[in-house]
Amino acid sequence: MPEDTLTITDNRTGISCTVPVKNGAIRAMDLRQLKTSPDDFGMVTYDPAFMNTASCESRITFIDGDKGILQYRGYPIDQLAENCTYLEVAYLVLHGELPTESQLHGWTQEVAGQTAVPEGIERILQGFRQDAHPMSVLASLVAALSTFYPEAKNVHDSAVRRVQILRLLGQLPTLAAYTYRHSLGLPLVPPDASLTYPENFLSMLWKKSEPYFQANPVLARALDVLFILHADHEQNCSTNAMRSIGSSLADPYMTMAGAIAALSGPLHGGANEEVLKMLDVIGSTDHIPAYVQKVKSGECKLMGFGHRVYKNYDPRARIIKRIAEQVFEVTGRNPKLDIALALEKIALEDEYFVKRKLYPNVDFYSGIIYQAMGFQPDIFTVLFAIGRNAGWLAQWQELLTDPAQKIARPRQVFLGHARRDFVPIGQRGA
Ligand code: SDX
Repeated sequence: MPEDTLTITDNRTGISCTVPVKNGAIRAMDLRQLKTSPDDFGMVTYDPAFMNTASCESRITFIDGDKGILQYRGYPIDQLAENCTYLEVAYLVLHGELPTESQLHGWTQEVAGQTAVPEGIERILQGFRQDAHPMSVLASLVAALSTFYPEAKNVHDSAVRRVQILRLLGQLPTLAAYTYRHSLGLPLVPPDASLTYPENFLSMLWKKSEPYFQANPVLARALDVLFILHADHEQNCSTNAMRSIGSSLADPYMTMAGAIAALSGPLHGGANEEVLKMLDVIGSTDHIPAYVQKVKSGECKLMGFGHRVYKNYDPRARIIKRIAEQVFEVTGRNPKLDIALALEKIALEDEYFVKRKLYPNVDFYSGIIYQAMGFQPDIFTVLFAIGRNAGWLAQWQELLTDPAQKIARPRQVFLGHARRDFVPIGQRGA
């Protein structure tokens, strides 16, 4: 029997079949040969939340959850965070290789040339209340970009795709900053192509009446590294949304609006905002034991803890803790860090968390840094989206260029009523 195969015996029929094993996986379609009768549809797999189902073959990001390893295109995340700019990492995840100096210069210039948003966007923005959640506004504005770039529907044209990728890398920070300024009732600050990617974003956020915004270099670098840490994370919930919507050949703006919607959920990217709310509820380190007891009794989750893949410390959380100290040297220490550190210590020693392999994830410390930098909690997930932009686009592009992919359409296990006839309303039971 060939080595890379799996033999399965269907005990309902006594029939065995042998299917190939490739890269540690079997093709689910190979199971369809297991039938109980000639007209049986055949065996399907039932896997709610895709706990053990690969939806694609990918070459972008590798995670080893047990060892706490994260690599983009083979490069360890800590080396990229230490040595690259976000746009350099965006180039890497999108093209598969780190750029040469001239490639990076050209790439950076091209993105800088795409930071202005279509004029109609500002009028759409004015239609939102100031207290509208920034993630809802961002998803709406990204979807609205679809109306300004109808050619983006030609998703199989690589040249068209490339222009939309540059537009989204350039314009997402602008849309995010405009959303933030609108929420504060402040005039919009247009992008400044002479600034670096993080400096331009900070300028659009914080510039007042001064002629030229001077970003603090430590904060600008910290923000760029946070974007790197959030750039991609294989098949997470929002990337799955990006791929699923993209598989219908929707344009990248409508597709990314869906990914932003998925990211907004409190179990996903919305967790960084929830962590700050949780730390506010806890209030002080002496209240931690009582809160942990509530978590262990199932009353609430410890936000920023746990992960579907990482059953070890999220490598990004480790790096973020290091960035926090650098930021606090500029901004002053966020007292919430003391609560977070004490909470982490207690949780990591508690059997409930140890048994379930619950560790701090990327969202546990990021919000504390964002708050110290002056961001309001409701924009934290928008910052996550700016980083994940490159990963969503790389995964979308990989989907469209993968000949094995087609429109996503999962099966189901039907447990509903068998066929029955209509009942006139007068004859229906209570
Ligand atoms: C992100 O997928 C990605 O890559 C995501 C992400 C990315 O970069 O894209 O890394 C970004 O989304 C990070 C996760 C941010 N979310 C949170 O911090 C929210 C809090 N965490 C949990 O909701 C949870 O840990 C998830 C959603 C992150 C993962 O959930 P799973 O894998 O579905 O695990 P589970 O809910 O089945 O939990 C297993 C057990 C359960 O207990 P039992 O039923 O076995 O008794 O662990 C418990 C859970 O109740 N548990 C928690 C917990 N997380 C899991 N208990 C308390 N607090 C938690 N945070």
